[in-house]
Amino acid sequence: APSGLVTPARIFGEDRVNARGWDLFDDGVLADIQDARNVTIGDATSVTVRDASGTNAPVINPTNGAVIAQAQEADAETVARAIEDAQVWDAPAAERAAVLRRAADLYEENYGRFFAILAQEAGKSIADAVGELREAVDFLRYYAQEGQDSPRRPRGVVTAISPWNFPLAIFTGQISAALMAGNAVLAKPAEQTPLVAAHAVALLHEAGVPRSALQLLIGQGGTVGAGLTSDARIKGVAFTGSTDTAQVIARSMAKHMEPGTPLIAETGGLNAMIVDSTALPEQAVRDIVASAFQSAGQRCSALRCLYLQEDTAAHVIEMIKGAMDQLAVGDPWLFATDVGPVIDTEARDGIAEYLDAKRGQIIHQVATPKEGTFIAPTMLKVGGIGDLEREIFGPVLHVATFKAAELDKVVADINARGFGLTFGLHTRIDSRVQEVTEAVHAGNLYVNRNQIGAIVGSQPFGGEGLSGTGPKAGGPLYLPRFFAPEPGIAID
Ligand code: NAD
Ligand code: ALA
Repeated sequence: APSGLVTPARIFGEDRVNARGWDLFDDGVLADIQDARNVTIGDATSVTVRDASGTNAPVINPTNGAVIAQAQEADAETVARAIEDAQVWDAPAAERAAVLRRAADLYEENYGRFFAILAQEAGKSIADAVGELREAVDFLRYYAQEGQDSPRRPRGVVTAISPWNFPLAIFTGQISAALMAGNAVLAKPAEQTPLVAAHAVALLHEAGVPRSALQLLIGQGGTVGAGLTSDARIKGVAFTGSTDTAQVIARSMAKHMEPGTPLIAETGGLNAMIVDSTALPEQAVRDIVASAFQSAGQRCSALRCLYLQEDTAAHVIEMIKGAMDQLAVGDPWLFATDVGPVIDTEARDGIAEYLDAKRGQIIHQVATPKEGTFIAPTMLKVGGIGDLEREIFGPVLHVATFKAAELDKVVADINARGFGLTFGLHTRIDSRVQEVTEAVHAGNLYVNRNQIGAIVGSQPFGGEGLSGTGPKAGGPLYLPRFFAPEPGIAID
């Protein structure tokens, strides 16, 4: 299969899979994890550019506030030197593909260490860490497969800027496509998650990616990110993060870079789901809860505004409350944990302030640890998606109701917000599936299932409008964007 999809069984070996999760805790794996608990700044600096200058920034475990490492952040001078040093990866496509596949193998072998870093640095639950590693490995193998026979030339030096919420998968997806096309990549991870990026880059180098073709630049968006998106020597930018930051980058590129320099921006969403009165409540509730609360709601794809048809709404809301009460919120290292912390105190305080202002609308809230950056999974009543002031990036589900005759208006209201990332529909009426999915503007449409967790290769992921520029990640149009334009090939 072209995507080389990795199942949990593939990662752990068949005998380590059980119904609930995965039995990680054999002696060898425990040793890996213990070792990973000692991740230090040495890991983060060894793969940055030579003589990196800049200040040290603490890397904080969101679960308990502990400082787990110091990351030496690059400054403007280091960024300039990195651009100067960057060299395209001048090896045949088949060789580049082989190196990326070797990196995929190394990622899999290093699962224990990755999980430890993802849990400590990003607050990822074990289930989320498994999914994240799987997606990262899929990206490596998928782009290797897609590009291994391509004779096309790279663009040159390319910037890759990623967010903290998929600090391994999205980070790897961007750079693996850019590298597979032969570019020199300057990779900037989010401020909160430098360690997982450092570990990934170390493995990519170990697999055979030349250091001059892949440099890691840890640091602040306003310095490192800005420096990497305002230099005429940069020939393309892959960015995933907030819509606001994408707009800042687009303006900077227009001012400083050659006209036509591509920006691939994958940004935020105000994602809706419609559940009509023909939907199966048990199935809908399972999918609502997963879409809204898995990964502590910190997925760009997460469900933000649920529309329930009035006739069955009260019943479905009662069932959602029951399902929410089953969620275990807490230490991401425990297998039983469903919802870990949000990324940092700033995120926690912003969401808590929002919930405080909306406390009169709260329908249900789950018990949550007081320490750490936890937010109680919460369901809020709203009139419709127009009441959502912004993307609340956490475990907060807004619920509205609609009458059967109002379905068209609901769809128009969703479209009117201008985002277009994911959309979910639960219905048993075939004609409605066609009508609604044709009318809604969204990159990824899901029917009678949850709306998170797109699979590389089979569900290319990306939005439209304020949610992104395309092409979709993990799809056939993504890699071609990283090649230099050629006469007769309409990519740009
Ligand atoms: P963010 O925009 O704050 O940061 C993303 C990255 O941009 C970070 O590496 C940051 O340092 C960098 N950055 C910040 N300012 C910059 C500047 N001026 N110039 C260049 N780079 C700069 O986003 P975040 O809080 O890290 O991530 C959450 C957001 O990402 C949410 O809105 C979420 O919906 C979105 N997201 C989208 C997708 C997608 O595929 N569409 C996937 C994941 C996350
Ligand atoms: N690709 C991620 C998902 O589909 C963001 O949930």
